[in-house]
Amino acid sequence: MIEMIRNYNFWVITDEQKETSVNLQFIYNRTSKEEIAVKDFIYSYPVKVYFGEKAAAKALPAELAKAGKTVMVAYGGGSVKKSGVYDEICGYLKEAGKEIVDFSGIMPNPTYKKVQEGAALAREKNVDFILAVGGGSVIDCCKIIACQAALDEDIWEMEFKNHIYPTEHLPMGAIVTASGTGAEMNNGAVITNEDTNEKAGVLGAYASFAVLDVDYTMTLPKKQVISGAFDTLSHSMETYLGSPRDVNLSDEIAEAVMRNVIRNIRALLVDLNDKEARTELMWASAMAENGILKIGKVTDFQAHQIEHQLGAYTDCNHGQGLAVIHPVLYRHMCKDGVKQFARMAEKVWEIPAEDKSPEQLAGEGVQALKDFVKEIGMPSTFTEMGITDKSVLKKVADTCNLTAGCCKKLSREEILEILEECW
Ligand code: NZQ
Ligand code: ZN
Repeated sequence: MIEMIRNYNFWVITDEQKETSVNLQFIYNRTSKEEIAVKDFIYSYPVKVYFGEKAAAKALPAELAKAGKTVMVAYGGGSVKKSGVYDEICGYLKEAGKEIVDFSGIMPNPTYKKVQEGAALAREKNVDFILAVGGGSVIDCCKIIACQAALDEDIWEMEFKNHIYPTEHLPMGAIVTASGTGAEMNNGAVITNEDTNEKAGVLGAYASFAVLDVDYTMTLPKKQVISGAFDTLSHSMETYLGSPRDVNLSDEIAEAVMRNVIRNIRALLVDLNDKEARTELMWASAMAENGILKIGKVTDFQAHQIEHQLGAYTDCNHGQGLAVIHPVLYRHMCKDGVKQFARMAEKVWEIPAEDKSPEQLAGEGVQALKDFVKEIGMPSTFTEMGITDKSVLKKVADTCNLTAGCCKKLSREEILEILEECW
C-alpha cells in the first residue's frame, strides 16, 4: 500500500502515519484512527490535462505516439456513438496508425464482472493502451481493467483480503464525456461487486492524460449534468469538513471551488447550454479530485460511503443519492464540527454572521444546502429517487464504511436513523 502511494501518489508520509495515509478518499476508509493532522507532503501529479476546445486533437497524436499499436477504446451504453465522439476519437487513432479493440457496454455503477470481461479482452488482444471514453463509470472501470490485465491475482481479493495494491498496469488515458466525479484525475475506482453487495473504492491506474473538452459533454441530459455538478460540490464539502478542523489553504481554495459550483449550477438552471458555466464546472470537477483540496487534510467522505452502499443495493444515481443524504447527515454532524460548519455557512453559502452563535450559523448553512437541493430540482428523499424497498436501509447502515475524517463518531444505529430520515 505504501509503495503504491509513494509510486503513484503525491503523499509521502511519516512511518507513523503510513497506516492512516488518507489523501485519497479510497484509502481513508481502511483506517480506524480518528484525528490525524497530515502536515508534511510531497506533491507531484501523474495526470496531464488537455483542457478546452479540440483538446483531443492535441492530446491523442502527442500521447499515443508513445504507446504501442493496439488501443482498446472503452465506452458505455452508446451515448458516444450517438454524439459522434466515438467516431472522432477513432479517426484520430486511425490517423496515428493504431489498431482499435472495441470494448462497449460499461454501465453506470460499473460492476466487477465488467472489469473482468474488459481485462480478459485486453489480454486476449494484447492491448497496449486503454482509452476510456465516458463519464466516471467508464473511467473507473478502465482504471481497474488496466491493473487486472497486468495481474495474475484477482484484484478484489488482492486489495480487500490481502491488502496488497497493484504497482503495474497497462497505460491508459481518459476522454471525459460527463464531468462531475473527477474520476479522470485520480486512481481510485468505485466498483460494484454484485456477488458481495459492495460498492467499493478499488485502487487502480492513473490515466497518464485526460482530455476535458466541454463540447464532448453537451449532449448529457440535464439530470446528469446537475447530479454530476452536485457530486463535485459534495467532494469539496467532504474534503473541507475533514480533519484538521482549523482552516488551511486547501480549505480556502475549497471554499472558492464550492462557491463556483453553486454559482454555475444556478447559471445552468437559466440556460443548460451555457458553455462558460459548463466549462467552469468541468474544471471545478477536476479540481475537487486532483488532490489540491486534500493537501493537509484527512478527508471526511462519510456521505459518499453511505451513498456507495446505497448504490450497491439499489444501483441508484450517485449524485442524486448524495443530494438526499448530505443535508440529513449534516444535520446530525454539525454540532460536532460547529466551527467548520459555521465557516462554511458564511464563506460558501454567504450567510451573514451578524451576532449569530456558531451553532445557529452552522444550522443555517445546513438549511441553505437543503434549500439548494430543492432549488436545483434534485430529489430530497429516497422515495423521490424511485427507491421502493425500505429494507435496504438497514443493510446500508450495517455495511457502509465509517470514515476517519468525519467530525462525529457515528454509530450504525445513528446511520440507520439518518437513512430513515432520508426516506
Ligand atoms: O453509458 P452511456 O450511453 O455513455 O450513457 C452515460 C450514462 O448513462 C451518460 N453519458 C455520459 N456521457 C454522455 C452521456 N449521455 C449523453 N451525452 C454524453 N456526453 O451518462 C450516464 C451516466 O454516466 P456515468 O459515467 O455513470 O456518470 P458519472 O460520471 O456521474 O459517474 C458515476 C460513477 O462514478 C463513481 C460513482 O460512484 C459512479 O459509479 N464515482 C467515481 C469517483 C472517482 N473515481 O473519483 C468519485 C465519485 O465520488 C463517484 O463515486
Ligand atoms: Zn462522488
